[in-house]
Amino acid sequence: MSLSVSRLGKTFFAEVENVDIRQPLAPAAIDGINDALAEHAILLFRAPGLTDEEQMAFTEQFGPLEAIQLRVGRQRNTSNEFVADMSNVDPDGAILPADSEKLAFQKGNEFWHTDSSFKPVPSGPSFLSARVVPSDGGNTEFADLREAWDALPAERQEMIEGLVAEHSLEYSRARYGYKDFNTDEKQIFPPVYQAMVRTHAVTGRKNLYLGSHAGSIVGMSEAESQALLKELIDYATQPQFVYSHSWTVGDLVMWDNRCTLHRARPYPKQTEKRILRRTTVAGARPTVVNGVPIDEWKIEQAA
Ligand SMILES: [Fe+2]
Repeated sequence: MSLSVSRLGKTFFAEVENVDIRQPLAPAAIDGINDALAEHAILLFRAPGLTDEEQMAFTEQFGPLEAIQLRVGRQRNTSNEFVADMSNVDPDGAILPADSEKLAFQKGNEFWHTDSSFKPVPSGPSFLSARVVPSDGGNTEFADLREAWDALPAERQEMIEGLVAEHSLEYSRARYGYKDFNTDEKQIFPPVYQAMVRTHAVTGRKNLYLGSHAGSIVGMSEAESQALLKELIDYATQPQFVYSHSWTVGDLVMWDNRCTLHRARPYPKQTEKRILRRTTVAGARPTVVNGVPIDEWKIEQAA
C-alpha cells in the first residue's frame, strides 16, 4: 500500500495516510515520508495510543534522536532524555499550580520559535504527539519560512542574506521575565550563531531562519537588531504563511525545524489537561562556520 499525502495548508502542512507509524517502516515508506516532508515541511499522521517507545522508534528512522539536555522537571515527567513532556500536569497526572516552574518555563513555547536554534547544531525534524487535549484552545500554529522568504522584496532579501544572528535560550526566556537557569544550564547553553537565511539541505530552497531565541544580529546595534528581527518575524507570521493545527488525541505532527516556525496557543491551564510528547531528530551540522553562513544544500550534494 502506498502513502497517501494530502495538503491541508495553502503552501505547506499535509496529512499522510496509509502508513502505520507504530511498525518499522519499509525503506520505500521512509523515502516517501522524507519526500513529503521536503515538499510540505509539516506532516500529520494519525496514531491513537502511541507510546513514548513507539514514538522514539518512529523518530529514529529519520536520524539519531536529540537529547533534551534540560533539567528534569522543566519539560519532562520522565527520566527519558529523548522525550520532552509538553504538559500542564505533574508526574502523577495532576494539573500543575499556576505558579509552577514548569509552566513558567513552557510559557516560552507560546512565542514563535524553531526548536533548538539555541544549540550550535540546531534540530532536524520534531515529532509531537497528542495524548490528552483540552476542549478549548491549545492549538499549535506553524509558519512557512520558505514562502515568507520568496515573498520578501528583492532588496530586503539582498540585505538579509549573509547575516548571522545570535540565539540563546536565556534570551528567549528573558522575553517574559524567566531567569531561573542554573549554572550548569548556562554552561550547556551559551549563545550560538545561526544563519538568518538557510538553503535547505534536501531541496536547495532558501528560507528565513529566525525565532524567539534570536536576540541580536552580528554587526548591528541592539536597536537595529531588535527592529529587524521583529519586522521579519511579524512578516513571516502573517496569516498567508500560517497554518493553525487543532489537536485531536492520537495526532502526531512531524515538522521540519529548518524551514518553519511554530508556537503553542493558550488554553485554560488550570482547568483542562493538555499532554503532548515531543521527540526530535538531531540536526546534521551548524548553519554558520567561522562566522559565515554555510550553503547546506551544496554540502549535502558534495557528501
Ligand atoms: Fe517548540
